[in-house]
Amino acid sequence: MPDFIYLDHAAATPMDTKVLAAMQPYFATHFYNPSASYLPAQKVKKDVETARSAVAQLLGARPSEIVFTAGGTEANNLAIYGVMSQQPKGNIVISAIEHESVLEPAAQHKHKLAPVDSDGRVNLAKLEKLIDDHTVLVSVMYANNEIGTIEPIREIAQIIKRVRSTRRAKGNQTPIYLHTDACQAGAYLDLHVSRLGVDMMSLNGGKIYGPKQSGVLYVKAGIALKPQVLGGGQERSLRSGTENVAGIVGFAKALELAQANRQDESKRLERLRMLFIELIQKQIPKAQINGSLKHRLPNNIHITIPGYDNERLLIQLEQRGVLAAAGSACSASNEEPSHVLTALGLSEADARASLRFSMGRDTKAKDIEKTVKALKSSL
Ligand SMILES: Cc1ncc(COP(=O)(O)O)c(C=O)c1O
Repeated sequence: MPDFIYLDHAAATPMDTKVLAAMQPYFATHFYNPSASYLPAQKVKKDVETARSAVAQLLGARPSEIVFTAGGTEANNLAIYGVMSQQPKGNIVISAIEHESVLEPAAQHKHKLAPVDSDGRVNLAKLEKLIDDHTVLVSVMYANNEIGTIEPIREIAQIIKRVRSTRRAKGNQTPIYLHTDACQAGAYLDLHVSRLGVDMMSLNGGKIYGPKQSGVLYVKAGIALKPQVLGGGQERSLRSGTENVAGIVGFAKALELAQANRQDESKRLERLRMLFIELIQKQIPKAQINGSLKHRLPNNIHITIPGYDNERLLIQLEQRGVLAAAGSACSASNEEPSHVLTALGLSEADARASLRFSMGRDTKAKDIEKTVKALKSSL
């Protein structure tokens, strides 16, 4: 094991050795193109379909509703462009704290931002008000990548249901769909699509101890998406290109393992988080915790230490053997303060004084103790 403490699992998780073993045969031995007609290739094609069925079962979906993608960004882009380019007059409502892979494609269309309350949860009344007769898509993430807040997806699904019945009564035939970016949720939350009430859901392998550049978009039967990658017609023409068989098999295995383990692992991490918070409150009382503590991914701790520069703190922490993050990995090189933190109402200065610690399967109590100690000595 490395001799540093890794607390950046929201950015990347190490691959589970069982996932690696499941993927291995597809690089050299079973390398065939699943579209070829000879028997060894057909066997590979069957393995892709077995993986699809396994993922579908874990989501409570049908195999035909699963589209394999090259990660979460692509799944989010397919959902948003896929719907919006069919509906040129339509608009999309997204939360103000979405990942860039939702924000950026939404910004290419008529869009509105639903605000969040100071605890990081979408304000349902304000979201409902933003939905008008031309809204065709609502996209709210299941769990936020910076502050770990779990968003009220079931309640939003109820709002969408009400909008549909009002539209039916008015004879408005404009469809409206609910998409959720569940990339941070795969290892911790219930992903059953009908219990959640979503029409589309994005997941990726790189956050669930599986391979990077693997993922899925669940697309409920009956939703016609405009494909974004055109070519040989793979993935029911929704995502052309020779299948990343190892990635697909690895993703399915990672999701299976993560979902089987999620309740026990969540309890374990919640205890570690309690320990982290207790220690922080005792040793660094000026630190403030951001985001809801009740509705939160079990592995996420996000704090502001007013007056301290997070980039400097990260360097100090690394020198003391702790790897953490300021904001999300994707926006780490960005000069702007985090849009998530400013949406919560934090000042720019406080946003720049904030740190994210995201725990994982290898995190132990002694790592938490050492981390708080390292943080205190960095101040
Ligand atoms: C919430 C969320 N959505 C989407 C993504 C993008 O996923 P990927 O890096 O697999 O494209 C990430 C990962 O950074 C994420 O945390």
